Amino acid sequence: MNFQDRVAFITGAGSKRGIGRETAKQLAYRGATVILADIDFEGVKEAAEEINAQNGKASPVQLDVTNRAQVSSVVQEIVGKFGKIDILVNNAGITRPTRVLEIPEEEWDLIFRVNVKSIYYLTQEVLPHMKRQHYGRIVNLGSVSGKRGGGVFGGSHYSAAKAAVAGFTKAVAREMAPFGITCNAVAPGLIGTDITGGMLTEEVKKEIIKGVPVGRIGTVTDVAYTIAFLASEQAGYITGEEIDINGGMHID
Ligand SMILES: NC(=O)c1ccc[n+]([C@@H]2O[C@H](COP(=O)([O-])OP(=O)(O)OC[C@H]3O[C@@H](n4cnc5c(N)ncnc54)[C@H](O)[C@@H]3O)[C@@H](O)[C@H]2O)c1
Repeated sequence: MNFQDRVAFITGAGSKRGIGRETAKQLAYRGATVILADIDFEGVKEAAEEINAQNGKASPVQLDVTNRAQVSSVVQEIVGKFGKIDILVNNAGITRPTRVLEIPEEEWDLIFRVNVKSIYYLTQEVLPHMKRQHYGRIVNLGSVSGKRGGGVFGGSHYSAAKAAVAGFTKAVAREMAPFGITCNAVAPGLIGTDITGGMLTEEVKKEIIKGVPVGRIGTVTDVAYTIAFLASEQAGYITGEEIDINGGMHID
C-alpha cells in the first residue's frame, strides 16, 4: 500500500493508545499527508509531532465533531491548504456503560451526536471535494456491539449508534460508487484502548478472552491495518462492506 500524494483526514486521532492515532501513523508511514483532528488538541499535537519526527507529514487540528460549523470550517481549511481530501476516516467515538433502563435522554443524544450525526456532517462536507476529483475513500468506525448487542462497555445506545453507522455506510456506498468514491466500515471487537475507561480489569479481560477464539484482545494495529487497506487505491472494488476485526468473537 502506497499513499504518496494522498491527503487523509482522521477524526478522534488524539488519544494516545487509540485506533485513530495508529491509523494516522499507518497512513503517514506509507506516504500520506495526514490531518489529525480531535476535541483534545494536546493529543493530536503530540501525535502529529511523533509522526513528523519519523519524517511523516502530519498536521493537528482541534475539532469537536458534533459542531457542524467547526466541521465545515476545518474541511474548508484543509482543502484550502492541501488542495483536496482523498481519505476520510470517521473514527471519533464515545461510549457509556449504562443499562437501558437507566439511560438518560441527554446521554442517548450525546452518544448519537458523537458516533453518528458527526459522520453525517463530515461526509456531507467532504463528499463534494471527493466528487470533484472523482476519487475518495471513506472508512467509518462501526463495532461488534452494533451487530450483536452491547458488550462489556457498550450500552444499548452505543449499539444502536454503531448499527446506524453501518446503515449509513451502505447507503452512501451505493450513492457514491458512480463517482469513484468507496465507503466502508470496520467493526472492531474488543480492542485495548482508553475507550473502556478503566472498565477492563484483568479479571474482565480474562472472561472476555474466553469468548474470543483467537485467544487475545485486539490491538490498535489490528484495526489500523484494515482501515489502511480499505483506504487504499487497491481496495476500489470493495464498497458498502463492514469488516469484522474481532478475533472470531462474532462471526456472521
Ligand atoms: N476500543 C474498542 O474496543 C472499540 C471497539 C469497537 C469500536 N471502536 C470504535 O473505534 C473508534 C476509536 O475508539 P478508540 O477505542 O480508539 O477510543 P479512544 O477513546 O482511545 O479514542 C476516541 C477519540 O475520539 C475523540 N473524541 C471524542 N469525542 C469527540 C468529539 N466530540 N470530537 C472530536 N473527537 C472526539 C477522543 O478525544 C479520543 O481521542 C470509536 O469510534 C469507537 O467507538 C472501539
